[in-house]
Amino acid sequence: MIGEALGELRRLLTHRTWSGTGRVVVVTGGAGGIGSVLCHRLAGRGASVVVVDRDGERAAAVAAGLPGPGRHAALDGDLTDPARIEAVLAEVERRAGRIDVLVNNTGMTSAERFGERSLASIDREIAVNTLSPLHVTRLALPLLRRSSDPRVVTTVSLAGIFPQAETPIYCASKFGLRGAMLSIALDLHAEGIRVGSVLPSATDTPMLRREAVEGGNALQFQSGPPQRAEDVVDAVLSLLDRPRLEVYPKPAESRLVRLAMAVPNLLPTLMPFFAGKGEDGQRAYLEDLLRRGEVVRDGGGWALAR
Ligand SMILES: NC(=O)c1ccc[n+]([C@@H]2O[C@H](COP(=O)([O-])OP(=O)(O)OC[C@H]3O[C@@H](n4cnc5c(N)ncnc54)[C@H](O)[C@@H]3O)[C@@H](O)[C@H]2O)c1
Repeated sequence: MIGEALGELRRLLTHRTWSGTGRVVVVTGGAGGIGSVLCHRLAGRGASVVVVDRDGERAAAVAAGLPGPGRHAALDGDLTDPARIEAVLAEVERRAGRIDVLVNNTGMTSAERFGERSLASIDREIAVNTLSPLHVTRLALPLLRRSSDPRVVTTVSLAGIFPQAETPIYCASKFGLRGAMLSIALDLHAEGIRVGSVLPSATDTPMLRREAVEGGNALQFQSGPPQRAEDVVDAVLSLLDRPRLEVYPKPAESRLVRLAMAVPNLLPTLMPFFAGKGEDGQRAYLEDLLRRGEVVRDGGGWALAR
């Protein structure tokens, strides 16, 4: 027991670079902001990357542009549909016979306020952000079990540990996903399947641009401009290099929110102190997007440029 713990400690402290050579990696949401950068970096490490996304055209374009010696592929499908998940995994099995790394990265958010949302839209967000990655992970297990070094990496969110008044369903979906992935990690540890999650805060991707335009959660702009997708991808790769349960792309920010969660009853008093800075940050982000041609002014508000 002590020997095992020491072995684990030694493994955690010894840095090595995960090699993708000969590895089969499946990235869901692979056509998106974080997903497409991740696919490039994994392919650059030699992996064969399967880009899965409900936007089949963008997935195909990402797969076609991937570097490296791997045999890349794109598969399209809405992963909230279990039949489609099964079809995607059957195709991966036909092409590669196994999965070495599954990256659960699909996600969405809605800026619609809780009091105005339809039940169907609430169900949809939970289905996309929580049920779908759990279904994919469950159905991918037989293919992961054929790997000599199986891994599951999930893009959760800092919203998985800290409440956001404007986007409670996103929080619910990510709190649930975080808890499930921690539990699955403990459950699968004994059979050698390493499960870890990355918990990013605001990241400049199509999802965040859409949210900012629609007036979603402003608090996430508290600590300056959003990070780049590359920063999140660095964190994902670090999980592959050094398997852990969780990694935070912005460690200082994560410590602050975890500290705040030690005293949740103080949140109603504390939050107003941060609101102004968040709103300023959101405005600055929108101005930056305007300069970059990503958004346009639309009456008194904003709209995506394309
Ligand atoms: N951008 C941020 O600020 C941020 C912060 C924390 C966590 N995250 C998480 O990072 C992950 C990636 O998000 P992103 O910012 O790159 O967003 P994105 O919108 O650029 O990419 C998400 C991708 O997932 C795909 N997708 C969505 N639903 C799907 C479904 N049902 N089936 C198949 N594909 C589907 C979309 O087509 C899109 O290509 C998400 O899980 C998101 O919640 C993002």
